[in-house]
Amino acid sequence: MTDSGSKFRIFRFLKIIFCSFLITILLLFTIASIRTFSLDVNAGLQLARWEQTNNISLVIDHQQREELLANFKEAIRIPTVSVTQTDINTTALREFDRFLRKAFPSVFSSSLVRHELVANYSHLFWVQGSQPSLVPYMLLAHIDVVPATESDGWEAPPFSAQEIDGFIYGRGTIDDKSPVMGILQALEYLLIRGYAPRRGFYIGLGHDEEVNGFHGAKNIVRILKERGVQLSFVLDEGLAILDGVITGLEGPAALIGLSEKGSATVKLSVSMVPGHSSMPPRESTIGILSAAVKRLEDNPMPRLFGYGPERETFEHLAHKFGLPMKFIMSNLWLFSPLLSRILERKPDTNAFVRTTTAVTMFNAGVKVNIIPSHAEAYVNLRIHSAQSLQEVLDLIQSTVGDQRVKIELINGFDPLPVSSADERSLGFQIIKKTVLDMFPTVTVAPGICIGNTDSRYFKDLTNDIYRFSPVWFKPGDAQRFHGINERISKKNYEELVVFYFSLIQNCDIQKLPESHSSVHEL
Ligand SMILES: *[C@@H]1O[C@H](CO)[C@@H](O)[C@H](O)[C@H]1NC(C)=O
Ligand SMILES: *[C@@H]1O[C@H](CO)[C@@H](O)[C@H](O)[C@H]1NC(C)=O
Ligand SMILES: *[C@@H]1O[C@H](CO)[C@@H](O)[C@H](O)[C@H]1NC(C)=O
Ligand SMILES: [Zn+2]
Repeated sequence: MTDSGSKFRIFRFLKIIFCSFLITILLLFTIASIRTFSLDVNAGLQLARWEQTNNISLVIDHQQREELLANFKEAIRIPTVSVTQTDINTTALREFDRFLRKAFPSVFSSSLVRHELVANYSHLFWVQGSQPSLVPYMLLAHIDVVPATESDGWEAPPFSAQEIDGFIYGRGTIDDKSPVMGILQALEYLLIRGYAPRRGFYIGLGHDEEVNGFHGAKNIVRILKERGVQLSFVLDEGLAILDGVITGLEGPAALIGLSEKGSATVKLSVSMVPGHSSMPPRESTIGILSAAVKRLEDNPMPRLFGYGPERETFEHLAHKFGLPMKFIMSNLWLFSPLLSRILERKPDTNAFVRTTTAVTMFNAGVKVNIIPSHAEAYVNLRIHSAQSLQEVLDLIQSTVGDQRVKIELINGFDPLPVSSADERSLGFQIIKKTVLDMFPTVTVAPGICIGNTDSRYFKDLTNDIYRFSPVWFKPGDAQRFHGINERISKKNYEELVVFYFSLIQNCDIQKLPESHSSVHEL
């Protein structure tokens, strides 16, 4: 009896355990389901309830279309190339300055606009608002481009602005002369139509973004700081409208960058007395350094997916996926470890999962029969939002784990702060409204930039920096950026002009409409 009695008790015990396990699963599933179907991402926007400030409409007629395209093409033809910090084409930058004055006469002559050159080649515009109580904002773009060589396989010469099948080809058509020209063209048209903003704003055009912005953006920031300027938000280049790029996503998505990954360039080096190759030591500088580099590659930085703004991207886009992705993406609190392992398999999605480690240079040795006294390697890391530069350096130190390898930080910075994307966030909501007014079928979601922009220097002037322009990216287009056959469709360039034309007017609202949020965060 005792025997069977204890068996019964064990059985009952197991049953209780099993039931509570089942209840936990059911509960998790219920919470997950509620989240899957309750994240209403357009909540809070209330398009209909916005104060109307976009009173001037832009109808582009045939003649204006010719004119704005001619201006844009001329901008592309000026080779404002930045090769290195000391090798920039100052002749082209001067020519670009003359060109801007010619292309946008109203901008340069309006009494509302103050223009100044910064660091000789960058431009800063202040457009005065009629209501000084409205905190100004800033539109940023950059004039310089990365080099391009026709022989790399361009279908049209990279500084020709040639038209092929409705597209304008050329270096800078996306990065970043379409915003440069789009912003100024929009302002030109607004001024011609008698527009005077309520909310003042700045336009900053850097001339050396592609080589770190040490002169242009940095000096613009210095000047604004000296004048005690604070900005409600900054809008710079960065993300775009992705159409058919994200597998499984239904419809296009406009991703607005809330932050940028940090960056670090680290030099690893090993030195020892040189020797003859006939009597080699057991380990050479090359061997020691190679082993260290291999350890870094074999031990990637920890998975941090779900701890940065990429989480918001997934949650905002979840409802545009079919099941089971919808379910998984709405419930990153449960699934991020699983998703991390899927995303890390491909380099482009791995970038969202962790701080990436790229060994970019490796130098040692001068002669076949000499054991080199010195070997060095450079490692470029892009730091995930949930990690700091210091944490990354500490991890490199412990992974290398060899006192003979000297580790030096060449340059680096922490990930940028994460800008807000909630219903009270003026910049985000205005950008979102402007996108939705133009493209009602697009889903707007926060994103993260894995590259860096000039806007990173502005973090002391504002809490909210957004990185976006309404350039349409289809599959394969991302490779054009800094690659060959960079291009934009004529229609898309025109859309950029209209976008900035509306955005500037949308910024004139006194305040955002009261939100009636239906987002229930659990
Ligand atoms: C735009 O028009 C509306 C309605 O006519 C008016 O109330 C509003 O003040 C105008 N806004 C501006 C910025 O002119
Ligand atoms: C620099 O730009 C000018 C046009 O402004 C161009 O004629 C010249 O070839 C460019 N220099 C280089 C090295 O590309
Ligand atoms: C601007 O140009 C002047 C004269 O050409 C030069 O001395 C100065 O260093 C330049 N400044 C910058 C920031 O390039
Ligand atoms: Zn750029």
